[in-house]
Amino acid sequence: MKISVIGTGHVGLVTGACFADRGHRVLCVDVDKGKIAKLRRGVMTIYEPGLEDLVRRNVKAGRLKFGTTNAEAVAFGTVIFICVPTPPRPDGTADLSFMESVSRDIAKVLKEYRLVVDKSTVPVHTGEKVKQVITKYAPKGADFDVASNPEFLREGAAVQDTLHPDRIVFGVESARADKVLREVFEPFKAPILSTDIKSAELIKHASNSFLALKISYANALAAVCDLAGADVQMVTRGMGMDRRIGLAFLNPGIGYGGSCFPKDVSAFEAISRELGYDFKVLREVQRLNEEAAGLFIKKIEQELWNLKGKKIAAFGLSFKPDTDDIRESVALKIVKMLMEKGADVRGYDPQAMERAREAVPALKTAKSPYDAAKGADAALLLTEWKEFHNLDLARLKKLMAHPTMIDGRNLYEPDKMKAAGFTYKSIGRP
Ligand code: UDX
Repeated sequence: MKISVIGTGHVGLVTGACFADRGHRVLCVDVDKGKIAKLRRGVMTIYEPGLEDLVRRNVKAGRLKFGTTNAEAVAFGTVIFICVPTPPRPDGTADLSFMESVSRDIAKVLKEYRLVVDKSTVPVHTGEKVKQVITKYAPKGADFDVASNPEFLREGAAVQDTLHPDRIVFGVESARADKVLREVFEPFKAPILSTDIKSAELIKHASNSFLALKISYANALAAVCDLAGADVQMVTRGMGMDRRIGLAFLNPGIGYGGSCFPKDVSAFEAISRELGYDFKVLREVQRLNEEAAGLFIKKIEQELWNLKGKKIAAFGLSFKPDTDDIRESVALKIVKMLMEKGADVRGYDPQAMERAREAVPALKTAKSPYDAAKGADAALLLTEWKEFHNLDLARLKKLMAHPTMIDGRNLYEPDKMKAAGFTYKSIGRP
């Protein structure tokens, strides 16, 4: 199958490379010529484990190509996946202007049958709007279908998630579109749910919002455990043994971040309101997420009292491990909050330091966690990178002015930290 992908961000690039790896012929286009020039040279524009090898291998095999115009995409692929950003507007709704302009571009050059698939995360009813725009701008009688195919890839595991998905969901309006998409996804050997477009669109928002709700529930639970003197890890483990609940996404911490959950929860709340339903629990999820960062700052203040002039080492700046993405990173938000309170923060992250410095130019960074910890009054574990799993605690203790570790991800064992001579605080554990 010949497939075009419009937009080479996290979703587009990974999806395109994975389609190629499964044997399809793929053209990925992006209006950012610099990005495309890099990709053509085999230089990745994002950090994602396994992606560079995947792209290079498929380019070499002739299955993956890059271009810079939407017209090329329409000329090449029978199926066109739209993978453009849908960023949040100040009122929480999704900004769909890229969706509209790409749809118009596609329409203008439509000649033979094309299946236009929306993969960007969008509110329900976007498929209808894409269809309206294409109908309006395409030559009379143009032959096309519109479909929705939400993605569920996690950053940092994007290649694995795309090659081996739990499920593939698509929404279609015709038997022809259904047949084409089954052919596209057949090589992935995953369970397929084919439904109507509106339901497919809702599955994405509903799934991400539910996962965010699970995390916020765990964060609230951790606050109760802190007050009660119980251990949240035991509580969630006990809950998770019930198959109806499951243990995944019940890890409390400093709150969820990233380019998806915050944006999707607010967009889902906004579209529900627009449709006439007040989805109150989603606003509470957002409030709990804000609260989690605040409670973490309180923990730091309980240990250090006044933060002004205190030296603090921050381990991890990206929104989660295995990515250099700092969008809506709670780690970086906490660092900024501490700096505003006058703390002298030195941050270290295995991949996200450059991006963090761009976002927070006043941020001091270090070459390693040990470098960051030199003379520190406290170290904070903010992102659970592998590199932080087995730190040399004796070395760390020697370097710090006061061996205090405040763990925002429950990465370390309280007994072990105590035995190593640390004052140790974590989330919802005695
Ligand atoms: C998410 C969804 O998982 C994915 O299916 C969707 O398509 C895109 O959004 P992603 O944003 O890459 O993926 O990251 P994810 O691993 O889901 O983590 C999101 C945030 O939640 C991170 O900040 C993470 O630290 C936090 N989190 C996750 C918790 O605080 N606790 C948990 O138990 C799990």
